[in-house]
Amino acid sequence: MSPRTPTATGSVKIYRKKIIAGNWKMNKTTGEAKVLVEDIIRDIGKFDEAEIVLCPPFTSLETVSTLLSPINNIRLGAQNLNDKPSGAFTGEISAGMLKDLYVRYVIIGHSERRQFFGEDDATVNRKTIAALHAELRPIVCIGETLPQREGNTWKKVLETQLKGGLAGFTEKELTDIILAYEPVWAIGTGKTATPAQAEETHQFIRHWLAKNFSMAVSERVRIQYGGSVKPENAAELLNQPNIDGALVGGASLDARGFTAIVKNACPSPR
Ligand code: 13P
Repeated sequence: MSPRTPTATGSVKIYRKKIIAGNWKMNKTTGEAKVLVEDIIRDIGKFDEAEIVLCPPFTSLETVSTLLSPINNIRLGAQNLNDKPSGAFTGEISAGMLKDLYVRYVIIGHSERRQFFGEDDATVNRKTIAALHAELRPIVCIGETLPQREGNTWKKVLETQLKGGLAGFTEKELTDIILAYEPVWAIGTGKTATPAQAEETHQFIRHWLAKNFSMAVSERVRIQYGGSVKPENAAELLNQPNIDGALVGGASLDARGFTAIVKNACPSPR
């Protein structure tokens, strides 16, 4: 489909293909990963209405990569990377190592990495640079905590994360980045942002992109929502004009749940 589709009023609307990613976090052995991926392929291996990304733990990347190699519409993602190309960094994984396994996407700055592993916006910026240099597409996560949402400082918090994480990128680089808005209070809690709340926040992020980069960038960058996305709420969330996909945690560990999210969120036009 053309990236520009005329709207009913004749103005031109940029088409952003929805992107649904499963972040498995620290779950699934290689054997379990194989079963899950085979089930997902069986159900949505030919689904073309959205870009689908699976992000298993590092230990299952090779297995999942092999299973996905004949599949066009489901891509492989990693959950983290180190910003250095190689060297004495025990326990770390470089962009080159991910490329070697045909990884295409990498999640950067997830709130769990920020909370438990001390990552800050400068780390996010360095990792995003490393990913782009290796031609991996970064999924850069931002999001506020509950006190920040309730104290009405969420805009300031997101602005700081965007400014720090995206510092120094060109417009071209920006359009290769996917943003994921994940309110920390909605992650793994069963508490989802309402579609109106999520849409308002995505709109705020898009305006920030327009103000700090350009209108063209703001229209092209895809912004995923993450935080307790389930088959039951996916359609309403992804129907919002500024929500371009989902980053799914818990519900992506079950093939039926994940494929239902993909299908509910992006109904086939046929
Ligand atoms: P849940 O879908 O389990 O809330 O997790 C969201 C998330 O953190 C995805 O990265």
